[in-house]
Amino acid sequence: MVANKKVLMLPGDGIGPEVMGEVRRLIDWMDKRRSVTFDVTEDLVGGAAYEKHGAAISDDTMDVALNSDAVLFGAVGGPQWDNIGFDVRPEAGLLRLRKDLDLFANLRPAICFDALADASSLKRELVGGLDVLIVRELTGGVYFGEPRGIEDLPDGQRRGINTQVYTTEEIRRVCRVAFDLAKKRDNRVCSVEKMNVMESGLLWREEATWVHENEFSEVELSHMLADNCGMQLVRNPKQFDVIVTDNLFGDMLSDVASMLSGSLGMLPSASLGPEDESGRRRALYEPVHGSAPDIAGQGKANPLAMIQSYAMMLRYSFDMGEDADLVEQAVRNVLDAGLRTGDIMQDGMTLISCEQMGEAITAELDKQAA
Ligand code: IPM
Ligand code: MG
Repeated sequence: MVANKKVLMLPGDGIGPEVMGEVRRLIDWMDKRRSVTFDVTEDLVGGAAYEKHGAAISDDTMDVALNSDAVLFGAVGGPQWDNIGFDVRPEAGLLRLRKDLDLFANLRPAICFDALADASSLKRELVGGLDVLIVRELTGGVYFGEPRGIEDLPDGQRRGINTQVYTTEEIRRVCRVAFDLAKKRDNRVCSVEKMNVMESGLLWREEATWVHENEFSEVELSHMLADNCGMQLVRNPKQFDVIVTDNLFGDMLSDVASMLSGSLGMLPSASLGPEDESGRRRALYEPVHGSAPDIAGQGKANPLAMIQSYAMMLRYSFDMGEDADLVEQAVRNVLDAGLRTGDIMQDGMTLISCEQMGEAITAELDKQAA
């Protein structure tokens, strides 16, 4: 028996609970078929937490998160919360988790499944076999920089302010994660900033170079300006292996990269904190897609990004690479068999619901385990 692993499940809003339900199904399967037992707590986040506690995540929930081995996060937000303050809106729950758990390294793989290459807005030959990993800095930059706010000017105008700020160590630690991951892949890192207009970008380039020269000279490092990177991702995405970049550029570039893979509904992510003495990292796993309020509650959501986020949890938090491989293979097989939720539907394929997709994954795992 493997020792219990403490997992906090935060389904959130919109399609969050639906896609998380299919991870529950997987967890039950692992429990029965592979004797992997998780100690799962479920709680509220986002709009759901705001309705109950007046905050996007309660202090009690934060305590549980701080004491968990991993957090599984669904999605937050919806139009009904669009006009409340930044500090209580659903996204604030996610931002607090990232900040308080110190989840500074956000891993966003953009993988194009063969079966979905035609669903990409780019030509098959540009995206087929694509495997890019974006490492986004997640606890610094303009998302958290001070000063920030909206102020009134004497002439009656208003001024909105946000601050892009990075320190040496903030840059170095996320670059180290990127270099480390590159060693297990194609050994290439492209560091992305805007050093042509931003001092913080110049520092980013200098520190990325420092980490390369002093700690990872065996990995290939290149630099690119963020606007060019956006263009190159659409022009020739397969030129990249690992991209490391700041919080805001990473947010944008990972959305661009997601379209290469055919659907935002397919992409998982992992957010990792610093290693403690025992080598463990705090971690949160979430799909890149949002809460999709327009299709919530209709069984139409694609659970595969959430399911692959769960696979990333197995791999990065619990060192269960083999089980993660099983889940990822099941996803490929189900796609190869022509099963599709609405977002990735194509001619000649079989349209199924969120729940049926979850069932198809466990049925596939049953086959592999047989
Ligand atoms: C993401 C999202 C978040 C972000 C929002 C929901 C705060 O877009 O994870 O990419 O901007 O980081
Ligand atoms: Mg985003």
